[in-house]
Amino acid sequence: MKPTCSVSCCKVTERSDEGDAFEVLAENYEFNNMDGQCLAFRRAASVLKCLPWVVWCLGATQDLPCLGQHTKEVMEELLQCGRSFEVEELLSDERYQTFKLFTSVFGVGPKTAEKWFCRGLRSFNDILTDPSIHLNRMQQSGFLHYGDISRAVSKAEAVSLRSIIDEAVHAIAPAAAVALTGGFCRGKEFGHDVDLIVTTPELGMEESLLPYVTDELKKQGILLYCDYQASTFDMRKLPNHHFEAMDHFSKCFLILRLEGSQVEGGLHCAEGDSRGWRAVRVDLVSPPMDRYAFALLGWTGSRQFERDLRKFARKERGMLLDNHALYDKKKGRSAKRLSCKQSREGCKAYQRGGSTGET
Ligand code: CTP
Ligand code: MN
Ligand code: MN
Ligand code: MN
Repeated sequence: MKPTCSVSCCKVTERSDEGDAFEVLAENYEFNNMDGQCLAFRRAASVLKCLPWVVWCLGATQDLPCLGQHTKEVMEELLQCGRSFEVEELLSDERYQTFKLFTSVFGVGPKTAEKWFCRGLRSFNDILTDPSIHLNRMQQSGFLHYGDISRAVSKAEAVSLRSIIDEAVHAIAPAAAVALTGGFCRGKEFGHDVDLIVTTPELGMEESLLPYVTDELKKQGILLYCDYQASTFDMRKLPNHHFEAMDHFSKCFLILRLEGSQVEGGLHCAEGDSRGWRAVRVDLVSPPMDRYAFALLGWTGSRQFERDLRKFARKERGMLLDNHALYDKKKGRSAKRLSCKQSREGCKAYQRGGSTGET
């Protein structure tokens, strides 16, 4: 039977560019600090996204994990009407729209958005002309480079930035390695930033590497913003299975200036943009070489996959996994390295079981 409406991609309408219906709902829960419901919709979305078949009736989904009552009601609406009224209502809701707009600025999260919304602010102009609003350095850069950093980064741009970082790193540490991670490592053609892992074989040296690298970028005149966080890594600590906890490696969140002449095929810029350069968000993380595999696994994403992989390690294998290590609770020790066999098996089992249950 031919499907009338695809729920596997959960579009609000057939030709909608407003995005995923479930993502809109998840986001709205996030804006309202309802983390449980937010996660439930994100999880449901990822279960449906990885189906090899198209959902054409609700009955076909009854054996799938992670689809709760609310999710099914929305799916039912999408299947019957091709749209969800709850989602459409949200999309035209002033609070949702304002939070969406404000949180699209680098450095602005739901808390700040809420503060501004409660003060009656509704637009960027409202914020920028209100004398009582003090923007921090991150938010100032967010507004300054808003157009550029809300525009997708292409694979060619990511490859070029990898080379630029590679060169800066090798000027200081000839044996260092720079690897592309994040969405581009998963094969995406576009991303919202470029994630790179930088490490050196000399244990301990990685801790001081990033300040040298950002100094070099500054000398080149391409460092538009830099937030550096020194390492707080303690190798005696056990892995933390709480996903939202950040890792302790030395890292920096950057905005870099990328010249069009350095990108094969040119920049991914708006039509009519003749500046010849654009700003791009770049994340650098610098784990010790012996933690490289764990850092790479943790930074490759997606966030949902990482969450579920940790849960799989904990529930199915009695292990704790995070960006630093894999700890075997039964043996009372950490794995020295990630064996390919282990991770392959883990991934297969993960795929068999889907993404189930709570975090
Ligand atoms: N990550 C992390 N610690 C951080 C920041 C990110 O472990 N302090 C991980 C996230 O869990 C994610 C990966 O790094 O799995 C990449 O994060 P991000 O750049 O936000 O997302 P991408 O998957 O790369 O998607 P996009 O293309 O939008 O950048
Ligand atoms: Mn990324
Ligand atoms: Mn990132
Ligand atoms: Mn927990």
